[in-house]
Amino acid sequence: MRKYFVAGNWKMNLTMGESAKLAADLKAAIGGQSEVDVAVCPPFVYVPGVVEALKGSTIAVGAQNLYPAPGGAFTGEVSPKMIKDVGCRYVIIGHSERRHILGEKDEFINAKVKSALEAQLLPILCVGELLAERQSGRTQSVVSIQVEKGLAGLTEQDAAKITIAYEPVWAIGTGETATPAQAQEVHAYIRGLVKKLFGDSIADAMRIQYGGSVKPDNAAELMAQPDVDGSLVGGAALKAENFVPIVRAAKG
Ligand code: PGA
Repeated sequence: MRKYFVAGNWKMNLTMGESAKLAADLKAAIGGQSEVDVAVCPPFVYVPGVVEALKGSTIAVGAQNLYPAPGGAFTGEVSPKMIKDVGCRYVIIGHSERRHILGEKDEFINAKVKSALEAQLLPILCVGELLAERQSGRTQSVVSIQVEKGLAGLTEQDAAKITIAYEPVWAIGTGETATPAQAQEVHAYIRGLVKKLFGDSIADAMRIQYGGSVKPDNAAELMAQPDVDGSLVGGAALKAENFVPIVRAAKG
């Protein structure tokens, strides 16, 4: 039985004060529960403050990105080791905004996944199709390339540490959510793919989150699907009053 995993992707939002307040509110509301794995992913500059604010709670912290090198002359970038050092457990990799705004390609994303694992971070690998790709019937081929290339070269032991987030690009920040049936179809497809790549037990244990306009009123229905094991939440993660009910919805 897979444990649900709900992560909040704060993206490039909030002030330092707002991030500390949100963390404190989440700690008070859900910081003691352990039925669902919960993480928040603040902007880099707020990570240490949020780690501090969440101390003593069950809520983990993740980063939104990393640069795949141990250190050195990479102006403006942050290494996996630094992310681990400041107290992160997870790191989001290959988010659609990085793929489509910043031009990240699957090979670079794969290098990031590997360097995260080397630093003992747990990657959340994001995949998902554009609207035009869905409309032209290419959802499965797009997602399979992203999964296969993103996880290329991983051992079974490494693959066991991965969470995949299926985030149809047309549903991100648009208010338009995939229907539970649409989500389930792609999630089952992804699990089948992981089965082919890494075998039954890795695939059966892997958590596949859904992301894209998850809100308190649609979270339960989405996460009730057999292959939807949690959610990656953007906009609704910025307010405790929205994020908390989503975590509660995962408890069923
Ligand atoms: P959204 O973002 O919930 O605001 O659609 C999800 C994401 O990009 O992870």
